[in-house]
Formats: sequence, C-alpha cells, structure tokens
Amino acid sequence: MSRTEGLTVSSESPDVFESDLAESASDASLERTRARSLEIERQIATDPRPFRILTGDRPTGNLHLGHYFGTLQNRVRLQRAGVETLVVIADYQVITDRDGVGPIRERVLSLVADYLAVGLDPSATTIFTHSAVPALNELVLPFLALVTDSELRRNPTVKAEAEATGNRPMSGLLLTYPVHQAADILFCRANLVPVGKDQLPHLEQARVVARRFDERFGRAVAGHPVFPRPEALLSEATSVLGTDGTKMSKSRGNAIELSMDADTTARLLKKAVTDSNRTITWDPTGRPEVSNLLLIAAMSTGRDPREIADEIGDGGGGGLKRYVIEAVNELLAPIRKRREDLVSDEGYLRTILSRGNARANAIADETLSEVHSAMGMTY
Ligand code: TRP
Repeated sequence: MSRTEGLTVSSESPDVFESDLAESASDASLERTRARSLEIERQIATDPRPFRILTGDRPTGNLHLGHYFGTLQNRVRLQRAGVETLVVIADYQVITDRDGVGPIRERVLSLVADYLAVGLDPSATTIFTHSAVPALNELVLPFLALVTDSELRRNPTVKAEAEATGNRPMSGLLLTYPVHQAADILFCRANLVPVGKDQLPHLEQARVVARRFDERFGRAVAGHPVFPRPEALLSEATSVLGTDGTKMSKSRGNAIELSMDADTTARLLKKAVTDSNRTITWDPTGRPEVSNLLLIAAMSTGRDPREIADEIGDGGGGGLKRYVIEAVNELLAPIRKRREDLVSDEGYLRTILSRGNARANAIADETLSEVHSAMGMTY
C-alpha cells in the first residue's frame, strides 16, 4: 500500500489513504458499520442531543414513493426522535452530469413542499440550498488540496455516475463532487449521515477529508479537530421498484410521485407489469414484479406482504392492483392535501427556504472562520 505523495500521514493513522475508500466497501467493514448504526440508534433513543444529521437531495425531479420509503420516512422519524437535522437541496450538484439546470426554481420550491408535506418540521429541520451558502462552497478549496485525482477517479459513486452518462467526458465538477459533498457534511459539523450502502464511499470521503484537515492544519481552536469525523447511519430500507419492475425513476415513467393525484396514481398502477399466474404469492426472486407491488402495498399499510398475498389469493393481477392503488392513495392522501396547500403559497415556501439559508450561512461562516484560523489565514 503506497502512501499518497505529498500528504502527511500521522503515526496514529495506519489506515493509509489509498486504502480508505476500498476498505469502506468490504464485507467486514459493512458489518462494523451495521453494528455501529444499531448502537447509534440506541443512543438516539436515550439521548438525541449529541447528534446532528446532514442529508440532502439533488433538485432534478419530483420526489416519489421510492424516496418516501427509502429516505424521507427515515428523516421524519429521526427528526421526531429529536435529532437536529439539516437538509441540503444540492443545486450545484445538478450540473455534475448535465449541461443545464432545468426548471431549477420550480424544482427547489417543489422539494421544499415535498419535505414539509411528508412531515419535516421547519422549526426543527434546516432546509437550505448550496447556492445560498457561499462559505460552504468555499470549503471545497482547502478540501481539494487534501485529495488526489486518482482517489477521486476510484470513487465507486463517481465511476457509476460517469458510466451512466455514457460517452460524456467527465467534468471537473463530477470528479470532485464527493469533496463538495464532504463540505455539505462538514460545514455544519454533522456527525451523522443517514445513508444506504451504496452511498458509503461518499461518507468515507468526508471522514478522510476531516482527518486529513486535522493532520495537515492542526487544531487552532480549543485543541480539538476543526471537523468531527461523521458516521454513517446505515438505513436498511427495502427499496421499492417502479411499476415496470425496474428502478423507480421519473425518467422511466414508472414512478409514483408524491405530487400526483389519486387518478394518475391509479392509472399508472393499473399499467404495472405483473405475470400470468392468477394466484398472488410473495416470491421476490421468482415473481419480482408481483412481489414489488406487494411490497409497495405492505410498506403503505404496515402489513406483512405474505398476508396481503394470501388475502388476494386468486384475485390475479387485477385484484392485486386494486389493493395497491387503494393502499398507496390512502397513504398519500394526507401528504398530497398538505402539499397542495403548500404549493398554493409560494411566499411561505420561500420564507422557509430563506430562514434555512440564513441559519446555514451563520453556521458556515463560523466554520469557515475557524478553518481560516487553523490555516493561519487571518489578516
Ligand atoms: N448526492 C445526494 C443525491 O444525489 C444529495 C446530497 C448532496 C447529499 N449532498 C449530500 C446527501 C450530503 C447526503 C449528504 O441525492
């Protein structure tokens, strides 16, 4: 294992840079992260105060059921458990893999509406955008000095995204966005990031940046590192697929969006792919499409998917779809009602965002000033 040239390795960090990101993907490391996440959950239940969460989304489209079951529900749960939460609407991340920003203003406001509609409470959760917090973005500069290009090129998420964009040459922003994302986490000294397993390399990048900053620039303030090393809160949420049995995504036309009305939802679900066996059974490997609909029904109602399958019995695809449509529409009805009220009041959504931005700026300014002190850049 070679040491990255030009970077100082402190004696108490035998886990040399080159291995950091690879290590995060190993089975043993995943097991450790799982165990640690359970321990953190227990600590939160006893006392949530030592924790601060940072999480976020790119404003590239409307949030859908996949987001709801995958992350939104979990955010609301953690907020209700009393953990301070910040949510970044990652507008600068939109242009990592595309030329334009699209209808960004509408999308940002729509995201704010989605967040509030699902139950994020703006008095407990800070919602802000990248573009409104200059000091956060400035952190990217010193952080870039702490990473190497080969390390970024090896980042599994960067690789996957570069592949997904086909032959498009990799932009500097795509290559370095894990560092920008590290700034999202570190600017507010979040110590907890709820992630799925595929996002672990990002978190590891943030941990590496935090440690290297400490090694390189020391502890100007109060003798402690400027940045804590954030930990993953691994979420094991089962992910639901779209109505065609592939990954739920707006661009595939297979997504049930939070903003859709009940009729559109019914129409989409009626077109869902099933199979020719009339007896409905829970069989995720043998009957993935049928089982996905059962899973959506189960997640919507809190019931066991096997029990729902038994109840539908010989009702076939039609019976299954009728059940799912009702379950989803019932789950989403109150969310959609709140959402409708929210979008009719753009002024309110903008107020929430500007309050969040003001708070994020106050935090970011303080952190950046500590960074400047640590680096001796105080004139
Ligand atoms: N990359 C995340 C996404 O694509 C959004 C995001 C930006 C984020 N910054 C973050 C997530 C920091 C967690 C932590 O949805």
